[in-house]
Amino acid sequence: MGLEVAKSVAAGIAVGLALLQGLAMLQVQGKGPALFPFEKQVLRRWHRRGGVAALGLMTAVAAACVLGEGIYAYPFRVWVHAVAGTLAILVLLVKVVFTHRTRRLVRYNGLLGRAAGLLILIAFLASVAGYYLSSRF
Ligand code: HEM
Repeated sequence: MGLEVAKSVAAGIAVGLALLQGLAMLQVQGKGPALFPFEKQVLRRWHRRGGVAALGLMTAVAAACVLGEGIYAYPFRVWVHAVAGTLAILVLLVKVVFTHRTRRLVRYNGLLGRAAGLLILIAFLASVAGYYLSSRF
């Protein structure tokens, strides 16, 4: 499997994970549909673990991008992708800090989670989708 395909698969998994993350936490907070047949504590635990997994995945993809391709004159689409991906990683890091260090700020985690999900989607659409559309058609 080439690096491009591996990164595409990982980025797709990150988008799917973000969607599941959001749905699980909304269910915990009683704000979304009750899709998962699990107790709130279980869903919260999975949200935490899934969030850290998403952070690791995004960081690994970002490292592969920078180390594999280097940074030079890219089209606008690629810059959008790089900025969105970097911001997503930073937002997730802030969530981890809020969750473990500054509990009084954890009320902002919902907002940050929505932002992270959106940024991950933008990074995905601007890279994987954009890459395949612009190079195949
Ligand atoms: C509607 C969407 C979301 C809401 C309402 C939400 C809410 C929360 C809350 C309340 C916590 C604190 C959990 C606790 O204290 O046990 C948290 C933690 C966290 N969330 Fe979200 N979140 C959302 C989406 C996301 C998404 C999409 C991601 C990642 C792709 C994410 C990643 C994380 C991470 C990394 C943590 C910290 C986990 C840890 O350090 O143990 N969240 N979120």
